[in-house]
Amino acid sequence: MAAKQARLVAVANEKGGVGKTAMVINLGAALSAMGKRILIVDMDPQHNAGSGLGIEADDETITVYDLMTAPDQYNAADAVFSTKWKNLELIASHIDLAGAEVELVEAEGRENRLNMALKGLAKNYDVILMDTPPSLSLLTINVFAFCREVLVPCQTHPYAFRALTDLFDTIESVQEEINPELRISGLVPTFFDQRTRVSNMILDRLRSDERYSQMLYDTAIRANTTIAASTEAAKPVVFYRKTSNGARDFQALAAEFLKRAP
Ligand SMILES: Nc1ncnc2c1ncn2[C@@H]1O[C@H](COP(=O)(O)OP(=O)(O)OP(=O)(O)O)[C@@H](O)[C@H]1O
Ligand SMILES: [Mg+2]
Repeated sequence: MAAKQARLVAVANEKGGVGKTAMVINLGAALSAMGKRILIVDMDPQHNAGSGLGIEADDETITVYDLMTAPDQYNAADAVFSTKWKNLELIASHIDLAGAEVELVEAEGRENRLNMALKGLAKNYDVILMDTPPSLSLLTINVFAFCREVLVPCQTHPYAFRALTDLFDTIESVQEEINPELRISGLVPTFFDQRTRVSNMILDRLRSDERYSQMLYDTAIRANTTIAASTEAAKPVVFYRKTSNGARDFQALAAEFLKRAP
């Protein structure tokens, strides 16, 4: 029997500030607390996922930048950090990753750099979760070339639909040209606020849209200031304040994520 492979999950939405990094950190943490072995790969040059887990790369650190730009020199296993929490590991990003797109412009197989670097790691984990930058750049394309699933945080905000259309178009062209196995596995409402008309209106629109409704999660992540406070404290909210709405929502998301295994 073939070795069990990790679920390879990109968290993506080109719109900024919709809760991508919070989802990577907190879904990852909630799954790790359920005993799943989790690797988070921070593919955003802003390195917020690493910061949110209390890890800052220094000059000695092997980061995804090294794995992307000098794959012959570095081994992905040497880039893995343990965090303070069991079953939760990280490959860190670096600000220089912002320049990787330009550096790799003439490189052969530049869409598959991450794939080449990380493919040996998948057998060690139950889930690899990738944080992506708020742009559909070469970095995100590398993530899509490696992953099987895309989980999309969708802010319950009037502009949410525009970003979704662009994302779906990009994913379609990646499926055609690079990775036929990629699929959107979930759309998760974020910053949901039951009391506001706009939050409810966007959720209703997602539910009644033929295309989006089939992939819409039942779990919505509510707007909750404890999530922002936990980011500041460099701790996942599920460990920072277990009884907060933020922790509860991400625990529910983790349970639904496991139930929706492909
Ligand atoms: N449900 C929520 N309720 C309240 N604050 C949240 C919630 N989700 C995320 N935040 C906070 O909002 C800010 C933006 O969230 P986050 O960094 O996860 O978004 P992002 O999509 O990763 O942004 P970027 O596109 O810049 O990478 C952060 O300070 C985070 O702690
Ligand atoms: Mg982010």
